[in-house]
Amino acid sequence: MDRTRPTDPRREDGPEDDTEAAAGVDAFGIPEPAPLTEHGPARVIAVANQKGGVGKTTSTINLGAALAEHGRKVLLVDFDPQGALSVGLGVQPHQLDSTVYNLLMERDSEIDEVIRETGVENMDLLPSNIDLSAAEVQLVFEVGREQALGRALKPVLDRYDIVLIDCQPSLGLLTINALACADTVLIPLACEFFSLRGVALLMDTIDKVRDRLNPNLDILGILATMFDPRTLHTREVQHRVREAFGDLVFRAVINRTVRFPETTVAGEPITTWAPTSAGAIAYRLLAREVLAR
Ligand SMILES: Nc1ncnc2c1ncn2[C@@H]1O[C@H](COP(=O)(O)OP(=O)(O)O)[C@@H](O)[C@H]1O
Ligand SMILES: [Mg+2]
Repeated sequence: MDRTRPTDPRREDGPEDDTEAAAGVDAFGIPEPAPLTEHGPARVIAVANQKGGVGKTTSTINLGAALAEHGRKVLLVDFDPQGALSVGLGVQPHQLDSTVYNLLMERDSEIDEVIRETGVENMDLLPSNIDLSAAEVQLVFEVGREQALGRALKPVLDRYDIVLIDCQPSLGLLTINALACADTVLIPLACEFFSLRGVALLMDTIDKVRDRLNPNLDILGILATMFDPRTLHTREVQHRVREAFGDLVFRAVINRTVRFPETTVAGEPITTWAPTSAGAIAYRLLAREVLAR
């Protein structure tokens, strides 16, 4: 058995047997993703939580990179004016000529001129910078203000298999735009400062967007992040989250480790920075779960 795989503290059933392994099924019963022969249309996943510092940006980069390892064509959308996703991939946001802001606000701007390749094969980036904060204000006066991102992304959806949108930490108009064009939402929850009320508010917003703007919007899953197996507190939170949300919670659990802040400095995902680390393995497991859902 693969001892390096992150263990789910609440996993009750025994280790896999050989028949499962032979069928390409891992310890969690998740099938090995099939290779693709053609690409698109993309599934759009919004990575959202109005709380900051819960691992949205980190999860967007590393899930994206792990999906790209499976040959999926991935587009990451930096939809936070802080530009942390762009920085995390080695892009200096203040040096950008055109960003997601231009796509939202200028009808004649070309998405191909904004998309950039990243250092990861199969993974591209739509970068942002502080300009995007103006869009939030300016969009209020636009017709179809909630659909601006959806309109901007439409021309390239056929080219990608997965689009991940890294949302800003608020439930404002930018996040509504992401939810309005997404198929599903991935919600990272930090085991360190978990708030059930915060999640309820997010779920409520998702329900409203589903009712009013995007009838097909679904929750893809909840990802426990910042898990520290040594503290009782995070173990308890993890337990409560599974009690409250059951199968919505991914088996993959992201431990708290300095390897993640390190990757930001390095400007690359953990899957290439520390390919055999527990963090890389956990995001690879998450990628398999995402492809299986
Ligand atoms: N699993 C983790 N363990 C330790 N630090 C992490 C982990 N995930 C993210 N971080 C760090 O925590 C900070 C916030 O994470 P980030 O992904 O930017 O959150 P968000 O996008 O939700 O604000 C960043 O400095 C990041 O490097
Ligand atoms: Mg962020």
